[in-house]
Amino acid sequence: MINKLISLKEETIKSLGDLSDQKSLSEMRTRVLGRKGELTTLLRTLKDFQPEERSAIGKLANEIKVDLESRFDSREKFFIEELEQRDLEKEFIDVTLPGRRHGFGKLHVLNVVTAELIEVFSGLGFQLAEGPEVELDYYNFEALNIPKDHPARDMQDTFYFSENVVLRTHTSPVQIRTMEKSRPPVRIICPGKVYRRDADITHSPMFMQIEGLWVDRHVSLADLKGVLTAFVEEYFGVGIGLRFRPSFFPFTEPSAEVDIQCVICGGSGCRTCSFTGWLEILGSGMVDPALYGFVGYDPEVYSGFAFGMGIERIAMLKYGIPDIRSFYENDVRFLRQF
Ligand code: DAH
Repeated sequence: MINKLISLKEETIKSLGDLSDQKSLSEMRTRVLGRKGELTTLLRTLKDFQPEERSAIGKLANEIKVDLESRFDSREKFFIEELEQRDLEKEFIDVTLPGRRHGFGKLHVLNVVTAELIEVFSGLGFQLAEGPEVELDYYNFEALNIPKDHPARDMQDTFYFSENVVLRTHTSPVQIRTMEKSRPPVRIICPGKVYRRDADITHSPMFMQIEGLWVDRHVSLADLKGVLTAFVEEYFGVGIGLRFRPSFFPFTEPSAEVDIQCVICGGSGCRTCSFTGWLEILGSGMVDPALYGFVGYDPEVYSGFAFGMGIERIAMLKYGIPDIRSFYENDVRFLRQF
């Protein structure tokens, strides 16, 4: 009996080591220690032994039972921990993996060009000015010498909030607003959005302009030419020719449109310049003395010039962008390039 008990213990210990999972462990526990298990079955024969033998065998059997129970327990604990460990490994975060990229945003190309233009004109002594996009008819038209029934209004039809409140059609109203609240010398540039009832391949109902104004004693057409030449050389490169073409604006007298030599073909003629070799970049002129009447400047003392250009057009020429719509489509493949 003693031998049987000892060999049951040894065999059990041996096969415990071979077990690979919790299920077979619990099966084995029932087989050995369960109510109908091998140990219990052995002990049933105890009654056939002498009393003194019986107590020695009983004591040994009990020790073996306690011992095996604790071995089963610790084996079970081992399996549970192993399982937990495996779960943990599933959740394991590999800190050496490269992270997911979140692209950095950047300035829109029109804002880049605006900043470049501000930079150039700041270098020429111009200060930044601003005005509202929702503008009074008075500043957008009236005080710029464009009365209610003037034909010049036709080219600048816009969005009306009421008879007297419009979305500004150009940045020129900032000329009036600035002169109204300051005395000469006035030397400002004003970039911003403008709106017109216009939409086709080359026109957008919203676009950007930058306005310039310089009023002081003795400002002449020569200063206008000097400033614009300096600007073209600085921004498009030395040696790019420019020409002044007589034109008409109600708020300048005389007026001129300024062309630069085509930056694509160098002046020999291409599709961009419609085979003329020249590209129109802005409107300009000497401030019409009528405007001084609206802001209380003495036209006998002060004179000045103004100019206005489309920022999209400048950006297209500077960066060789063929289609104005690219600016507003929010296609990051386009926007990322600048
Ligand atoms: N405001 C004009 C336009 O949008 C452009 C312009 C022309 C502005 C001549 C000026 C200027 O300041 O002198 O068509």
